[in-house]
Amino acid sequence: MDIVVRDVSMVFPASAGPVRALGNLSLDVQSGELVALIGPSGCGKSTLLRLIADVVQPTSGTVEVRGGPPARARVARELGFVFQHPGLLLWRDALANVSLPLEVGGWGRRHQAPHQPAELLELVGLKGFERAFPRQLSGGMQQRVAIARALVTGPPILLMDEPFGALDEITRDHMNQELLRIWAATRTTIVFVTHSIAEAVYLASRVFVFSPRPGRVIGEVAIDLPSPRVPAVKDTPEFVRHTAALRRALAQAA
Ligand SMILES: Nc1ncnc2c1ncn2[C@@H]1O[C@H](COP(=O)(O)OP(=O)(O)OP(=O)(O)O)[C@@H](O)[C@H]1O
Ligand SMILES: [Mg+2]
Repeated sequence: MDIVVRDVSMVFPASAGPVRALGNLSLDVQSGELVALIGPSGCGKSTLLRLIADVVQPTSGTVEVRGGPPARARVARELGFVFQHPGLLLWRDALANVSLPLEVGGWGRRHQAPHQPAELLELVGLKGFERAFPRQLSGGMQQRVAIARALVTGPPILLMDEPFGALDEITRDHMNQELLRIWAATRTTIVFVTHSIAEAVYLASRVFVFSPRPGRVIGEVAIDLPSPRVPAVKDTPEFVRHTAALRRALAQAA
């Protein structure tokens, strides 16, 4: 098991009174699995990713990452993070953006970097754009650079927080396909937050449905669509059945 979350509650202090973001949330993610998290805005999805990444600590309950506390996984650089906005450094070209975690992460001459930045740019479909600056790249291309940057230290776990939320639907479909290809090539465990029911069903083997704040898992939908997923699956009755089930679970959540 790569991620084990048990009875986690998270309360943030705020001037208007404490905000209970998560309440007794439990979930597991297996090694190499791609799971999606879906739920109403403000229900604590990003907070859960930040707990797994050891950016914040739970008020109560436990989070385990690869058999130990999240702090161990963070120090061992076992986690990559991709956000909704690529957050690239504008004055660095694509290759230099991807290399950044290696420079700040202490990978020097003595420690061989897990991946060559140029190879990762190729993996995300950006061969030939090594020297392009962010302003010369489309939104989808910038997000690919961000994914390559998150993967360059070879993390076994990738946390993705609405990574394609800012993209148009056609680019997003394309990025979904690319992500599945990258996932198959790297066997990385992926926790993927989305607001799109179709995206969750298409990508994930399991979808966790969150209640409104304080968030907890109120439904777990297993997506037993054939693998590898191909776009034509979206036109099948099975796909529609899964999206309908997820929509029902979300309606109960609201
Ligand atoms: N650092 C913080 N300090 C205070 N409150 C916070 C902090 N981080 C999150 N919260 C609160 O916790 C709740 C959950 O926030 P979170 O960002 O996890 O929600 P979310 O499910 O990711 O929402 P969205 O789908 O809109 O991204 C919100 O009410 C938010 O205001
Ligand atoms: Mg969020």
